[in-house]
Amino acid sequence: MRRAIVLLSLLVLAGCARGQELPATGANAQQPVAGNSLGRDVYLRTCAACHGPDGEGYANQYKAPALDPTEHAWHHPDGQIQRLIRDGGAVMPALGDQLSPKEIVAVITYLHTLWTPVQLERQQASSAFDPLQSP
Ligand code: HEC
Repeated sequence: MRRAIVLLSLLVLAGCARGQELPATGANAQQPVAGNSLGRDVYLRTCAACHGPDGEGYANQYKAPALDPTEHAWHHPDGQIQRLIRDGGAVMPALGDQLSPKEIVAVITYLHTLWTPVQLERQQASSAFDPLQSP
C-alpha cells in the first residue's frame, strides 16, 4: 500500500512536471524564430563570430565571454548592454555604425531568450534602473 502511494505521487509529480514543461518549451523554441527573427539574425550576423553561435563565448582570439546562462551577461541591465553594443567596451568594438538602433534593441531582446526565467526576471528588475533608450 505504502509503495503504491509513493508510486502514485511520483506519477502525479511526473505529470505536473510534464504539464508545465510542454508550453514553456514550445514558447522558448518559437520565440527566437517567430517572435524575434530580426534579433536572431543580427546576433548570428554580428555577434556570433566572437560570442559563439549559441552564446557560448570564446569563439575567436577576442576571448568574448559567454552570453548564455553560464556566465554573467545577464547581470547587466538593458541600458548598459545597449551602450556597450553602440559604443564598444574595452575590447568589444563599437557597433553603432554597423547596426541601426532598432537592430540593437532587437538583438538585446534576443539575448533575453538565452537566459533562464530566474536570470531574466532579475535582469529585468535591474533594467528598471537602466532601461533601454528608445531608438
Ligand atoms: C570582435 C568581437 C566581438 C563582437 C563582434 C561582439 N562582442 Fe560582445 N564582447 C566582446 C568582448 C571581448 C567582451 C568583453 C568586454 C570587453 O573587453 O569589451 C564583450 C562583452 C559583451 C557583453 C558583456 C558580457 C559580460 O559578461 O560582461 C555583452 C552583453 C556583449 N558583449 C554582447 C554583444 C552583442 C549582442 C554583440 C553583437 C551585436 C557583440 N557583443 C559583438 C567581443 C565582441
